[in-house]
Amino acid sequence: MHSFGHRANAVATFALTILAAMCFAASFSDSFNSPTPAASVKILNINWFQKEANANDEVSMTLNISADLSSLFTWNTKQVFVFVAAEYETPQNALNQVSLWDGIIPAKEHAKFLIHTTNKYRFIDQGSNLKGRDFNLTMHWHIMPKTGKMFADKIVMTGYQLPEQYR
Ligand SMILES: *[C@@H]1O[C@H](CO)[C@@H](O)[C@H](O)[C@H]1NC(C)=O
Ligand SMILES: *[C@@H]1O[C@H](CO)[C@@H](O)[C@H](O)[C@H]1NC(C)=O
Repeated sequence: MHSFGHRANAVATFALTILAAMCFAASFSDSFNSPTPAASVKILNINWFQKEANANDEVSMTLNISADLSSLFTWNTKQVFVFVAAEYETPQNALNQVSLWDGIIPAKEHAKFLIHTTNKYRFIDQGSNLKGRDFNLTMHWHIMPKTGKMFADKIVMTGYQLPEQYR
């Protein structure tokens, strides 16, 4: 006859095996999800654009950010971290990336959103490279799963330009 301790141990081992199998199945079934996220960011207004005392350029803008990231959510998704960045080239750097806004989407019901906002983080160039600068706005996301690997992707929106003059 097995002792109680023995049996409890066997049950625990069995439970762990099942749990491991479920975790594997969860992250595996996740890889069959082919999401169709959509995003659009419009610049509604350049609020101001100036050279600071330390000669860095800074711009303040109002953005209209809309996205439908609900297809990123599966039953294995814990939350999705999302950020919008301005990306541009300067003579010094092939890629400058400035985060303008970010947020955490806790559930699928909140994954479709429309936000009107001024840039949450300062859009500053370390130099004075922003006049007439062409740039892209990119929506990046990091999917944090309940189990398995984190996954990141982005949508690049091209064709934005900063004003030629400070204002
Ligand atoms: C913001 O973007 C959404 C989606 O593209 C659009 O329906 C809405 O009219 C825009 N709002 C403004 C004020 O431009
Ligand atoms: C914007 O993105 C496109 C496509 O990824 C890229 O070819 C281009 O160099 C980018 N433009 C800037 C200004 O970074």
